[in-house]
Amino acid sequence: MLFRLLVRPLLARPLLARPLLAGLTALWLLLGPALPAWAEFSLPPLPYAATALEPAIDATTMTIHHDRHHGAYVANLNGQIAANPALADLSLDALQGKISAFPLAVRNNGGGHWNHSQFWAVLAPEGQGGTPSSELLAAINKNFGSLEAMQSQFNQAAAARFGSGWAWLIRKADGSLAITSTANQDNPLMDLPGIERGVPLLGLDVWEHAYYLKYQNRRPDYIKAWWSLVNWNEVNGRLANAAVPL
Ligand SMILES: [Fe+2]
Repeated sequence: MLFRLLVRPLLARPLLARPLLAGLTALWLLLGPALPAWAEFSLPPLPYAATALEPAIDATTMTIHHDRHHGAYVANLNGQIAANPALADLSLDALQGKISAFPLAVRNNGGGHWNHSQFWAVLAPEGQGGTPSSELLAAINKNFGSLEAMQSQFNQAAAARFGSGWAWLIRKADGSLAITSTANQDNPLMDLPGIERGVPLLGLDVWEHAYYLKYQNRRPDYIKAWWSLVNWNEVNGRLANAAVPL
């Protein structure tokens, strides 16, 4: 429709189109650098259908969680760019390690964007997430004794997180693996006091918005069902790429 109404008539009248395009270009060159980078951060699409994680996570929860909650973190983060121009020069990853230099709104929304982006990626439809690699299993066995022991410690951290937050399996700078938990939208990449830092290999959202429609107050049931969705192929890749020190 837009093409038919605006672009085609212009193409048919090059004498009109040329000065119009030149004018728009000049305007952009004049004003562009002064404009905030509204579109610096964007909401990644879900890598599967909203129904794909059922029955463990229902489609309504997935849609609201992704489109509205994650979408709001992205929009609010972009809304902070004008007041914090340094944001426009940072990737989402790089921002996490410099978060202490920014106000709380950037911490909450920048963390929310990073955390949820990893969350969709470490999940897969049941039966399609592969299995832990031999490297990951060796690291888990070395640090926790067994896969089951790691999962038990992870479940405890997720269940014990008071209020809203996340549980994490991380690879620390010394190469060891650890289970940790963060409040609100903080994460282990953040340069904040009280954060056990490391590269997140697997992160679980235990905010009520992640499970309340289906599980209400039964967070442990959500955590148990969530394990059936873990995308081990993604976790294996994260371990391989986490060799870079923080
Ligand atoms: Fe969430």
